[in-house]
Amino acid sequence: MSKIFVLAIDGPAASGKGTIGRMLAEKYGLDYLDTGSLYRAVALQMLRAQVPLDSESSAEAIAKSLDLDLTSDPEIRSSRLAEAAATIAALPKVRAQLKVIQRQFAQRHPGAVLDGRDIGTVVCPDADIKLYVTASPEIRAKRRFLELQAAGSPLSEAEVLADVMARDKRDTERATSPLKPAEDAHLLDTSNLSIETAFGSAVDIIETHRG
Ligand code: CDP
Repeated sequence: MSKIFVLAIDGPAASGKGTIGRMLAEKYGLDYLDTGSLYRAVALQMLRAQVPLDSESSAEAIAKSLDLDLTSDPEIRSSRLAEAAATIAALPKVRAQLKVIQRQFAQRHPGAVLDGRDIGTVVCPDADIKLYVTASPEIRAKRRFLELQAAGSPLSEAEVLADVMARDKRDTERATSPLKPAEDAHLLDTSNLSIETAFGSAVDIIETHRG
């Protein structure tokens, strides 16, 4: 059996990492995991059960027996759920439980693309290739605004920018597994790139650096 190939993609909200990650998984025949959907699903289960978001023991129990069907529930895509996900994502016991699911996913043949915040630094520190995908806050907010608007959200672009910046702050400043590039990550700034050009740059990085 050939070696399992793992591609770790990290970066802030709406940087393009999800779209690029899906396209790369398709190109290389790998499985794909949007790890943010796990945090969003935990948050959704907590909100539905009316459990306070700072209850670490409840959040840990929910993460441990997570209903994975919730990761495809459209409700997790709202900005309310993004914020709730970032809140429970600061809880170390939640991160520890979700790390187990993510590692199991990454260990399956033929390998996987995982996108998130701490994939290259914590979940898969031995990944074959690590990408850190970023873009300016204004450009990311514009992309997220258009996505949310298409889904019927009434939020203004300025409100979405404020949400994105608040989440960046939470994600980069939390004590456990903060968002940051791994030392050996390749940086990809998509601010001025179309999705096709960004995908092409990611493929170039992979082809240049894979063993
Ligand atoms: O799609 P977007 O980039 O806006 O967010 P997401 O990837 O769905 O993640 C939602 C939230 O979950 C993030 O703001 C993080 O707080 C948290 N998260 C995390 O802490 N670690 C991950 N590996 C993935 C998401």
